[in-house]
Amino acid sequence: MAAANHIEELYVASDPKIKEFFDSAPPLQDAADIKAKLNEFIQRNFSTSGDGKANRIVCVTSGGTTVPLEKRCVRYIDNFSSGHRGAASTEYFLKSGYSVIFLYRRGTCQPFCRDLPENALLECLTYNNGSNLQVDQKSADVVKRAITEHQAAVAGGSLLKLPFTTIFEYLQMLQLVALLLRRVGPSAMFYLAAAVSDFYVPWESMTMHKIQSGSGPLDMQLAQVPKMLSVVRTEWAPLAFCISFKLETDKDILLEKAGMALKKYGMHMVVANELLTRKEEVIVVLLNDKISVRREKSEAGADVENPLIKLIVERHSEYITASSSA
Ligand code: PMT
Repeated sequence: MAAANHIEELYVASDPKIKEFFDSAPPLQDAADIKAKLNEFIQRNFSTSGDGKANRIVCVTSGGTTVPLEKRCVRYIDNFSSGHRGAASTEYFLKSGYSVIFLYRRGTCQPFCRDLPENALLECLTYNNGSNLQVDQKSADVVKRAITEHQAAVAGGSLLKLPFTTIFEYLQMLQLVALLLRRVGPSAMFYLAAAVSDFYVPWESMTMHKIQSGSGPLDMQLAQVPKMLSVVRTEWAPLAFCISFKLETDKDILLEKAGMALKKYGMHMVVANELLTRKEEVIVVLLNDKISVRREKSEAGADVENPLIKLIVERHSEYITASSSA
């Protein structure tokens, strides 16, 4: 028998490439602990009675996955994603009454911290000999807002943060979340903003120790990471509302690729964005429509995630209504 799928619920993928990926991945550390946290979170935030927003749970994925080149990893391939989109979107989902599973890359942008300086501890606090630590007057408002909004989400039990680093961790955690969110039906949503590696070094062909530079240029073959979008839709959580992202650097192919992803993977929406303008505008691609969503430039502090999440919440509401009358 093949090595067990390391995580979950006797699930065996029907696609052989996906099965092979999971069977050969290194076991997810703390899988039992993550599963217990997820179960507790879903139980607390979802009840089968009522279809109010309080019952809705969204999994927001955020930041980029790494691809290790060695088992005792010294070097890895990474990507550009800062996690800003995922962190900002998480704040707006929480404000809209959703509970959020924030599946994020360690060290990337966090919800409610977007307005803080990069080195907040050193730049916002002052310590005068003998006195207590104090927040600098000029940073007081932004620090207060970050702390109170974050504490409210944590105290209300509506935010669960789960960190990943590698492509192996990310996909195993996504699978675990999806299989457990299955019972939430159409009130569950996937908002897949993470920048997921398309190529990787399979664990069994990876060298154990640091690759030596003395042997000349590095010649490595990377395998293709199987796309997980259709399996989320068809097998893991078939009733959930699914939004994937499409990033390109060439705007001429962006909408065509987004439209293809919508149909091929059965997504409910694809958010298309270009690398250089991603903070100004995104285009939401639906089956019969394309909607441009822009940052309101005249408003101080405005971002593109605010109108984007409003649109998504509206469409998710319609989806829930349609599902319950079907
Ligand atoms: O983090 P920021 O700096 O704020 O930037 C935000 C963002 C640009 C990263 C975000 O808006 C975005 O576009 N994220 C998706 C980037 C990406 O990986 O695009 P893609 O074309 O490679 O993948 C498309 C979709 O397929 C993604 O939703 C991804 O979750 C999914 N995918 C990708 C590879 C893979 N093997 N399996 C997948 O399911």
